[in-house]
Amino acid sequence: MCGIIGYIGSGNACNIVVSGLHRLEYRGYDSAGLALCAPENNKILSLKAEGKIAALEEEIARNLPDSLSDSYSLGIGHTRWATHGAPNLTNAHPHLSNDGQFAIVHNGIIENYSALKNKLTRKGYTFESETDSEVIVHLIAECYEDDLRRAVAAAIEQLDGTFGIAVVSSKHPDTIIAARKGSPICVGVCDNGTIIASDVSAIVNHTNKVIFLDDGDILTASATNIDITNFKSIPVTRELTHIDWDVGEIEKGGYEHFMLKEMFEQPHALANVTRGRLLIDDGNTKLSGMQMDPYEMSRIASMVLAACGTSMYAGMVGKYYFEDLASLPSDIQQAAEFRYRNPIIQRDTCMIAISQSGETADTLAAVREAQQKGATVMGICNVVGSTIAREVGRGVYLHAGPEIGVASTKAFTCQVTVLAMMAILFGRARRLSLQAGRELVGELSRLPELAEAVLAQSDNILKIAEKYAQMENFFYIGRGYMFPAAMEGALKLKEISYIHAEGYHAAELKHGPIALLEENVPIVACVPEFSGKIKTIGNMQECRARKSPVIAIATEGDKEIDEVCDDIIRIPKCNELFAPIPVVIAEQLFAYHIAKLRGCSIDQPRNLAKSVTVE
Ligand code: M6R
Repeated sequence: MCGIIGYIGSGNACNIVVSGLHRLEYRGYDSAGLALCAPENNKILSLKAEGKIAALEEEIARNLPDSLSDSYSLGIGHTRWATHGAPNLTNAHPHLSNDGQFAIVHNGIIENYSALKNKLTRKGYTFESETDSEVIVHLIAECYEDDLRRAVAAAIEQLDGTFGIAVVSSKHPDTIIAARKGSPICVGVCDNGTIIASDVSAIVNHTNKVIFLDDGDILTASATNIDITNFKSIPVTRELTHIDWDVGEIEKGGYEHFMLKEMFEQPHALANVTRGRLLIDDGNTKLSGMQMDPYEMSRIASMVLAACGTSMYAGMVGKYYFEDLASLPSDIQQAAEFRYRNPIIQRDTCMIAISQSGETADTLAAVREAQQKGATVMGICNVVGSTIAREVGRGVYLHAGPEIGVASTKAFTCQVTVLAMMAILFGRARRLSLQAGRELVGELSRLPELAEAVLAQSDNILKIAEKYAQMENFFYIGRGYMFPAAMEGALKLKEISYIHAEGYHAAELKHGPIALLEENVPIVACVPEFSGKIKTIGNMQECRARKSPVIAIATEGDKEIDEVCDDIIRIPKCNELFAPIPVVIAEQLFAYHIAKLRGCSIDQPRNLAKSVTVE
């Protein structure tokens, strides 16, 4: 989704902003632009391009000679993911005031833009774009007297909706103003200046010490200083957060795609997420961030998991964990739906919000709704300091390192692992025995080696992918713990290869979708050694009887499967509770190879954004 970057300092603002835009590319975008100011020049230079940042770089090369580039010490940039208005040049940010003296970039949605636009038009302001964002810059120009921060404060007071904005003015070439309501903004002060961004990945190559604005904050940044006030101009203090990513983690490191790199990082990520958290002798886990003692855990009467997309499928696995290991009535909620229903939340309900980015708007809204209704709310997030992590104030970080590929991979396997660790912790405070706890914790310690074994199958999976890469429809089927694995496998395939793929409960197929089966509709059956295996084999037979080729994801050495499928991807033997992890890694590889064979844009699939910050 849209990205913001801003820089002020002694470095070359144009180069720093463009390299920041590249770091934000993974979020998904369809146009890009920047605005630059120089102290001795009372004009803003604004350049924009439709499409990729390479097009913006060509625009810069045409309009800004290298000899002049150094004179710009302040800049803001934006990657736009279209919401209001087509993805074209006029709608690309920055938007400039009619006199060209103010420029803004905006993430979020201004809900009352239409009324504001009418009001401003009546006052003589002219609009160039179809965006909701353009009203902000005209409002700032309208409110400006001689203080940029005050003008921004007065303008945003009139906005309904969500925003993260960065504002510059040729009248103040030593200042960037940023403000936040519902759309993240963070800031880092580094040796040669101050850098702001909507996402830490655009800052960590400058500094690891970052301040996250809270909703309702206005930042005034100069080359050497930052001041934060609330919208009422009262100074506020925000904590410095240390981001433990290094620059190598946000680069491809020799891999062709971020997705490939991140899949292959899973053994390491699974070791990180469990490090220091598995107490094998006690048959228990240690998750201090939950800030809950066994007494409090024993008082929780029900569990609600809320998430979107891949995180929701991790939550589906989590629901089974809480039921099986902690005997807790549990439910997985599609976060987008949660606040629009009338969910039954009681004081002894615990909500766990699951989000890799920690910024997903729908998940955040579910968190706020559950908090409003008095639930205990925890988070499972990857991005340290993200909005959900900060708003819940308790929970568990994945420590999986940055996930840049739009298709979530290592976050899923780590989320499932955290959910298992949480369920064991709750279980041990309730009815899970020491012996059962020890076995489970022992199995969790094997996850890195299980992941390694599946990744070693990549070449075999490629051969199978070659057979099916031209198919246009797939079904993924599974039962029990393999049901969410089937859902996730189908999501992975469709998002990066653009093949229509549906995940189904294996038994549900015959209640309708079976009508679609024929020889060009392959089935991926998640059928390792587990309690639902025999029944799934029955469902595979039903598919084969309709001529659908069946690709089984099965346990190594399981000969029974040979007879009932056309191709087999093998995973190592493991406890059925944790089988979603190797099965999903196999599905990730399958989807990746198919997408690559089809020539798809794997890290930035069309229309998709890495972090979905609008409803
Ligand atoms: O950052 P989140 O985990 O909250 O994101 C949720 C979904 O947007 C995300 O998982 C999405 O479905 C991925 N593209 C799936 O690969």
